[in-house]
Amino acid sequence: MEQFRLQDRVALVFGAGSSGPGWGNGKATAVTFARAGAKVIAIDVNPAAAAETVALIRAEGGQAEMAVCDVTQGAQVAAVIGDAAARHGRIDVLHNNVGVTSRGGVIEESEESFRRTLDLNLTSAFLTCKYALPHMIRQGKGAIVNVSSMTSIRYVYPYVSYQASKAGLNQLTQAVAMQHARQGIRANAILPGFMDTPITQQVVGQYANAEAMKAERAARTVMGRQGSGWDVANAALFLASDAAGYVNGVCLSVDGGQSCIVP
Ligand SMILES: NC(=O)c1ccc[n+]([C@@H]2O[C@H](COP(=O)([O-])OP(=O)(O)OC[C@H]3O[C@@H](n4cnc5c(N)ncnc54)[C@H](O)[C@@H]3O)[C@@H](O)[C@H]2O)c1
Repeated sequence: MEQFRLQDRVALVFGAGSSGPGWGNGKATAVTFARAGAKVIAIDVNPAAAAETVALIRAEGGQAEMAVCDVTQGAQVAAVIGDAAARHGRIDVLHNNVGVTSRGGVIEESEESFRRTLDLNLTSAFLTCKYALPHMIRQGKGAIVNVSSMTSIRYVYPYVSYQASKAGLNQLTQAVAMQHARQGIRANAILPGFMDTPITQQVVGQYANAEAMKAERAARTVMGRQGSGWDVANAALFLASDAAGYVNGVCLSVDGGQSCIVP
């Protein structure tokens, strides 16, 4: 089982906080990495969210420190990765969790919103890879995990910028995976489906029929229930660990089988 652990590996988690109370994908992943023995750098644009994740990890006896960074800003990304590498001597795992949804099709969505979503969901991973890869190449080893979405391969709602950005993230993942495979670096993506996380609870909660909508989301799923942040976290741990040593360039659906069906 040692292969499934991340003992003393330095793991950067971008978007390690949570948008609200409960367990989002990023927070659950940061805690799961720490439980597997990693030294987690919990990075978030929201200092309180990063601090909460660090406190949770330390309360369990895990290793964690926080960093504040807007992942759309290259200078900030370079600084936070450079600082972590300088202090720990290496970067073993890069986990890209930051992502936002923006509702609407091409006609409804503004140009500004479209560009912002691409920045947050796609350019962000370009930037983190750009600054983490040189360290991984020097080490001859590294694992990158990008959090994409089922909507990158299947139409669910009119979310044009979200779909396009996540589809781009899948291809960014595979491009990095192919180019750097012989340098000991693996890159994979996770495609969550319908998940019951704080961010979706907030979106659904804005509607008067929130409870009915939640039930409808669950009813649409193959398993009859939504997934959780822990489902994403467990997949991320596998992909980040040596247990996935021959898994590279994969877009792993964590959707209970949803992407297999005709909706
Ligand atoms: N929850 C779902 O149902 C679902 C489904 C499919 C895919 N996803 C993907 O999962 C990821 C997020 O899941 P989550 O549950 O952790 O969401 P979350 O919103 O709870 O957490 C994301 C964290 O990212 C931080 N963040 C936002 N903008 C940032 C920026 N510019 N720089 C640095 N940090 C920033 C937020 O402060 C927050 O703490 C996204 O990539 C999303 O597309 C989620």
